[in-house]
Amino acid sequence: MMGYFSDKVVWITGASSGLGAELAKQLSREGARLILTGRNAAALEAVQQQCQTACKILPADLEKDATPELAAAALAAFNQVDILINNAGITQRALAEDTLPEVERRLMEINFFAPVMLTRQLLPHFRERKGGQIVVISSMAGLMGFPLRTTYAASKHALKGYFETLQVEHTIPGFDITIVSPGRVNTPISLNAVTASGAAHNQMDEGQANGIPVADCAARILKAMRRKEKHVIIARSERVLWWLRKNISPLYYTIARKAGMKHS
Ligand SMILES: NC(=O)c1ccc[n+]([C@@H]2O[C@H](COP(=O)([O-])OP(=O)(O)OC[C@H]3O[C@@H](n4cnc5c(N)ncnc54)[C@H](OP(=O)(O)O)[C@@H]3O)[C@@H](O)[C@H]2O)c1
Repeated sequence: MMGYFSDKVVWITGASSGLGAELAKQLSREGARLILTGRNAAALEAVQQQCQTACKILPADLEKDATPELAAAALAAFNQVDILINNAGITQRALAEDTLPEVERRLMEINFFAPVMLTRQLLPHFRERKGGQIVVISSMAGLMGFPLRTTYAASKHALKGYFETLQVEHTIPGFDITIVSPGRVNTPISLNAVTASGAAHNQMDEGQANGIPVADCAARILKAMRRKEKHVIIARSERVLWWLRKNISPLYYTIARKAGMKHS
């Protein structure tokens, strides 16, 4: 039976680990053809081997290689891209005043500029084909601040602002954008988080260890894509904090500080 994803070509960034790898496996089970991007080619190959449908790897460092040439290579893989999932990202575990400027730029390059650059390269293709879909993996930290993540939160707020505006202004028929704001998900993201100097945090934080199972998060994202939801929040206690932020903000400031600073 033909489903929403059958035969669609989906380009996933950050497909070598965590949420991106899980999205690849679930999309393959749904019949999608895949293009997998990340730096770690061996890890991409391992994910490729677990996919049952046509799957190509396109290794790239999105800090510097989110270029027209990379988008052209993705388009050449199957002669079309139906869906781009801007998922690659790194987080932060450092106080603002300690974080080196080059580390802040790195966070912005990977988390914000790379999705913008890849999206811009695909828009003419979507216009020509009268359709296409972009998924943007933001974060609850794209809706409110959380300690030790100033530039991470800034990059995710920037993503939300850019893609929400694109949702409102674009004129491409059949083109949809889904913005995803997950709370903590059980992936290795905290191990890969940058500290003030740029070195890896290398610790599995409690929040991630007890976070939403990655398979549940990916399944909810697929559902949001099928329904063409404009914005989806996938969170547990972060949802309460977000409610407090909007409705009883003094409590948000106290609780976020207490919860977030304990790892500093
Ligand atoms: N886990 C959570 O609690 C959580 C919560 C909210 C939002 N998110 C968001 O979810 C997305 C996926 O994160 P995750 O939890 O799955 O973390 P993860 O397991 O650390 O995966 C991050 C992915 O991003 C890729 N990546 C990092 N730097 C890159 C670069 N310079 N060039 C290309 N690819 C790069 C990594 O691939 P390589 O190492 O191979 O380059 C990896 O595949 C991120 O955008 C993150 O901000 C996660």
